[in-house]
Amino acid sequence: MSIEETRAVWDAEAATFDDEPDHGLRDPATRQAWRELLLAHLPPAPARVADLGCGTGTLSVLLAEEGYSVSGVDLSSEMVARAEAKGTGHDVTFAVGDAGDPDLPTGSFDVVLSRHVLWALPDPAAGLARWVDLLAPGGRLVLVEGRWFTGGGLAAADTEAMVRATGRGAAVRHLPEAVYWGKEIDDERYLLVSEA
Ligand SMILES: C[S@@+](CC[C@H](N)C(=O)[O-])C[C@H]1O[C@@H](n2cnc3c(N)ncnc32)[C@H](O)[C@@H]1O
Repeated sequence: MSIEETRAVWDAEAATFDDEPDHGLRDPATRQAWRELLLAHLPPAPARVADLGCGTGTLSVLLAEEGYSVSGVDLSSEMVARAEAKGTGHDVTFAVGDAGDPDLPTGSFDVVLSRHVLWALPDPAAGLARWVDLLAPGGRLVLVEGRWFTGGGLAAADTEAMVRATGRGAAVRHLPEAVYWGKEIDDERYLLVSEA
């Protein structure tokens, strides 16, 4: 799929994207679970976070509310428009761009966060290498991915191998708990934290 086709697909998804419990985090218990999960794996605020493939900005704004300075990038202008509306009044900026090669300064983020995007990049290993370049010394990657019942996604072992191939460490925390997804799940979903 070309980048233009990918953009069109996600533009079409934007209006209803937040209807999924893990996307909009509208349920307070789901929102709190993601808040606690992320805060447990990020350095303390304030810290600079790049949220790549940020969608409607739910996680970006959640972290900005906690005192992080967040830069969100997404291919879809429809997604970014919704993210900007959510982010008003917070220390968060959004831009339309390619997460595989974002127009962000190298070596300047304490955290590169990405949820459910790496698997969909045309060249995930190249994207990951670029994400590592964005990190400041001591920075960490925080990836949320899955290998879904649909057949899409990346198995944790494959993501871990891809991260380790960059020369970095990787620790996987599986996420089977229904509270994150608004339903019981039986496929593989996980968070991976990579420190140097
Ligand atoms: C499943 S959604 C996840 C959104 C957000 N990370 C979240 O967890 O709520 C995937 C997002 O990645 C974006 N995306 C897909 N390919 C992209 C690319 N090459 N560059 C930037 N964004 C991309 C889509 O527009 C969409 O917003």
